Amino acid sequence: MGSSGKSVLLIIGGGISAYKSLELIRRLKDRGLGVRVILTSAGSQFVTALSAGSLSGNKVYQDLFDLTDESEMGHIVLSRSADLIVVAPATADLMAKLANGIANDLASTTLLATDKPVLLAPAMNVRMWTHPATRRNAATLAADNIYFVGPNDGDMACGEYGPGRMAEPDEIVVAVERVLGAERGVLHGLKALVTAGPTHEPLDPVRYLANRSSGKQGYAIAGALRQAGAETILVSGPVEIAPPPGVKWIRVETARQMLAACEAALPADIAVCAAAVADWRPEMAANAKLKKQGGAAASIGLTENPDILATIARHASRPSLVIGFAAETDDLISNATAKRVRKGCDWIVANTVGAGYEAMGGDNNRVHLIKEGGTEAWPEMSKVDVARRLAVRIGEKLNGRAA
Ligand SMILES: Cc1cc2nc3c(=O)[nH]c(=O)nc-3n(C[C@H](O)[C@H](O)[C@H](O)COP(=O)(O)O)c2cc1C
Repeated sequence: MGSSGKSVLLIIGGGISAYKSLELIRRLKDRGLGVRVILTSAGSQFVTALSAGSLSGNKVYQDLFDLTDESEMGHIVLSRSADLIVVAPATADLMAKLANGIANDLASTTLLATDKPVLLAPAMNVRMWTHPATRRNAATLAADNIYFVGPNDGDMACGEYGPGRMAEPDEIVVAVERVLGAERGVLHGLKALVTAGPTHEPLDPVRYLANRSSGKQGYAIAGALRQAGAETILVSGPVEIAPPPGVKWIRVETARQMLAACEAALPADIAVCAAAVADWRPEMAANAKLKKQGGAAASIGLTENPDILATIARHASRPSLVIGFAAETDDLISNATAKRVRKGCDWIVANTVGAGYEAMGGDNNRVHLIKEGGTEAWPEMSKVDVARRLAVRIGEKLNGRAA
């Protein structure tokens, strides 16, 4: 750990620009950051462990199966030992592995095992960077809340010109400080509670009532708020999405569990209730699997679930900004406007669901932001962009600055 109290785990991949990463080690240390280095096998063709170790002042890690390292510091511990993982140069290969969850060496296993933010400084030949496979991988990684710095346009070691040059060490340091600085993020010092996903309301041990919510929008919002510096707690119903880096992740199943987790997370400054909480649950959840009853029609009695958004909005520890989501099949604006008042929340993010609209489950969203003073109609954009824009609005509201 350096004098700033923060540290970086630097993964040096196998590219010509690895030489710049030696300079990067010095610049990071100049900023008071502790630096540990993982050198890939290809990376060691370009720079030596001796140089990286001398500059960082720490042992350089190279082999997943180095038993001495595993007993001193296993790869899982190593992956979480720093505040941020920086990959520079991030080769096409390392990007492909991370985008696809491949973990077949120390660097890729560490990247998969970490719960810390990851910043990539890609460096590769322009054709490699513009190849559809790398484009796909970059998009996947961005959606997974992986941070990027560069690449820049310019002359390349291979003699070609175009995007693919690794960002300069100074630019990487600025990006590192931005990510770590969460501290300087506009929402730093604020605590955000985000709910996401559906709830499952059990009928018996094998059946439940649910809805089509994918959780993508809520997860993207949790990621955007974290990136803007907020300490972020994500209370999630059952979905198949990994939590954004640096977010505290609490998984629940039912509406009542979600409410309990949210109340336990208060006080908070911001609450964004993006979960599609089931309005009703079966009156009784049977302890044993329900059986057919000789052709007789079955009926399920329903009882209302607690209203999480209204509860948070009227809570003794009410966050200063409470934002709800409204998914409506018709009369979007009037229904959502009425919901804002009824629930006692500050803003409603309204989207249309149903025939022709893919808000539930899709990657894009078209929303209206409904406030007391009026409504903003946002164009269709990715859920990640909706989340970023919402974080900007929250920053403007709470700090008078853009996130
Ligand atoms: C001279 C030379 C330069 C290379 N430069 C790059 C590069 O800048 N970016 C890249 O993605 N791959 C580059 N490669 C290919 C990688 O080294 C190769 O894909 C390797 O498997 C990457 O391993 P790693 O991702 O574990 O570091 C280069 C290979 C050679 C021989």
